[in-house]
Amino acid sequence: MEFDQVVRTRRSIRRYSVQPPAESVIAELLELVRWAPSSMNGQPWHFVLVREPATKHKLAALKNRFVPADKRAFPADFLVAAPWIIVICVDRELAHDRELENGLLAAGWLLLAATSRGLGSVYLSAYQPRDPGLERELAALLSLPPQIRPISIVPLGYPAETPAAKTVRPLASILHHERY
Ligand SMILES: Cc1cc2nc3c(=O)[nH]c(=O)nc-3n(C[C@H](O)[C@H](O)[C@H](O)COP(=O)(O)O)c2cc1C
Repeated sequence: MEFDQVVRTRRSIRRYSVQPPAESVIAELLELVRWAPSSMNGQPWHFVLVREPATKHKLAALKNRFVPADKRAFPADFLVAAPWIIVICVDRELAHDRELENGLLAAGWLLLAATSRGLGSVYLSAYQPRDPGLERELAALLSLPPQIRPISIVPLGYPAETPAAKTVRPLASILHHERY
């Protein structure tokens, strides 16, 4: 798929076909993600692939337990039915104090790579800015060593929904020349 089309057609997908993408397809995506930029070229990423239903249930329950009050209308239950869940983690010792940015760029790369291969995905945070509980419990669930920090949760599967057309803010309303 051509790059502009990948960017314009990527949408958050929360319902997936039962047919799971082959592991080789997931490996192809992660091969691409490794080329993302990182602070000081530290390439601090680790990817935890979750396939076991019990772990998916625990991930969904964790996300739901830590969801802020204003986002309760959007539960993470759909994670249970995702064929693959990738937890993007960052090694603090290689992140040059830029754990979030390093992880988020890899997540963006992953969402676009998934779209380019016809897969659906959606971005979820693996941390809460004001509550270390989610990150701590996720680390325990996935047996992460102390220096490995979970940043993003990305479910992947072939789409079983077609989101309504998306509108984006007009460029002229957000574009500023020289000063805001
Ligand atoms: C930082 C961030 C956090 C998000 N958290 C969630 C989440 O917890 N659950 C969810 O279903 N979607 C989540 N999303 C997906 C957004 O809801 C989605 O990107 C947005 O509605 C725009 O739709 P689109 O991705 O189809 O363009 C998150 C996206 C971002 C960037």
